[in-house]
Amino acid sequence: MAPPMSFFMVLSILAFAPLCFSDNINGGYLYPQFYEHSCPKAQEIIKSVVAKAVEEDARMAASLLRLHFHDCFVQGCDASVLLDSSGTIISEKRSNPNRDSLRGYEVIDEIKSALEKECPHTVSCADIAAVAARDSTVLVGGQGWEVPLGRRDSRGASLSGSNNNIPAPNNTFQTILTKFKRQGLDIVDLVALSGSHTVGNSRCTSFRQRLYNQSGNGQPDFSLDQSYAAQLRTRCPRSGGDQNLFNLDFVTPTKFDNSYFKNLLASKGLLSSDQVLLTKSEASMELVKKYAMNNELFLDQFAKSMVKMGNISPLTGSRGEIRNRCRVVNKY
Ligand code: HEM
Ligand SMILES: *[C@@H]1O[C@H](CO)[C@@H](O)[C@H](O)[C@H]1NC(C)=O
Ligand SMILES: *[C@@H]1O[C@H](CO)[C@@H](O)[C@H](O)[C@H]1NC(C)=O
Repeated sequence: MAPPMSFFMVLSILAFAPLCFSDNINGGYLYPQFYEHSCPKAQEIIKSVVAKAVEEDARMAASLLRLHFHDCFVQGCDASVLLDSSGTIISEKRSNPNRDSLRGYEVIDEIKSALEKECPHTVSCADIAAVAARDSTVLVGGQGWEVPLGRRDSRGASLSGSNNNIPAPNNTFQTILTKFKRQGLDIVDLVALSGSHTVGNSRCTSFRQRLYNQSGNGQPDFSLDQSYAAQLRTRCPRSGGDQNLFNLDFVTPTKFDNSYFKNLLASKGLLSSDQVLLTKSEASMELVKKYAMNNELFLDQFAKSMVKMGNISPLTGSRGEIRNRCRVVNKY
């Protein structure tokens, strides 16, 4: 007679069930040890190339963080953003949010060629982007997290997805929240992840509207501190200077901390999409205050929300491919 299932067997099956069936309905799931046997040095190699790039250019940490975001919001975290135009592929690099703005492609290329030497045809470009985003955050003072791995790379890109899914800096609070919810992210994720704007730069063109004509009546955005606005106008004129760069966090521009949220409380968020987190929703205002008061709490939630964002519809199992070069799909 077969022995009855032990209490502990039942318990362990129940304990692992959510792990196997949550996150993505398409079967397959991500886990941090994915390359443990197939490419044990993968994480170390990624970290060293990212560290070198950030040493040469501190802004690169911010750029790599944003690159992963702009990947994940378009067909999931599948490295679609890295594809150049060719054949039937129209690159996402030319979308409104990305054109003359998104950076870091060369760093991903360098990581990929190092990984192809170490363990050919093994590590996906989508996973490289996810790990590089984590390493970047840590390098500029953020808290680390374990990156679930096993994403595969897309065989296509979506220019319209890039234009439509990624929020614009002059979108309303409600539009931004809706765009996050469509990705399975909530208001807590929205506020925490917006904290990325504690590092990196924005071009004048991304916030000019606030300085001169916020709502079409020739008036500036009065939710922006007016002496800060006057200061910004000196390098962001009514016309021209579109590409002039400004720190998103003018207090500690290269440190990953909660001063972004403190700036919002002082009406000194650079983008309209930043300031609306304080002014247009009671719930998000409470979160802004919470993170402004407690850096640990912010860093901790940021890490959790990054894992959640990194889980947006990955290609797993036999779907997609492991690209040989991140800019082009494989030829067969
Ligand atoms: C909530 C909606 C968001 C909007 C509307 C938004 C918009 C923008 C804009 C307009 C810029 C400046 C681009 C330029 O002028 O070249 C920017 C930069 C940046 N964004 Fe966001 N963003 C959002 C959320 C996020 C999220 C979720 C992340 C990461 C998880 C992120 C990370 C960054 C970083 C790090 C930069 C600086 C990049 C650099 O210096 O290269 N943003 N964002
Ligand atoms: C937002 O900015 C875009 C690009 O500059 C512009 O075409 C659009 O009219 C603006 N939308 C609003 C609501 O101001
Ligand atoms: C402000 O924008 C509106 C429409 O977006 C335009 O009709 C108006 O001329 C602009 N005013 C100024 C002072 O630029």
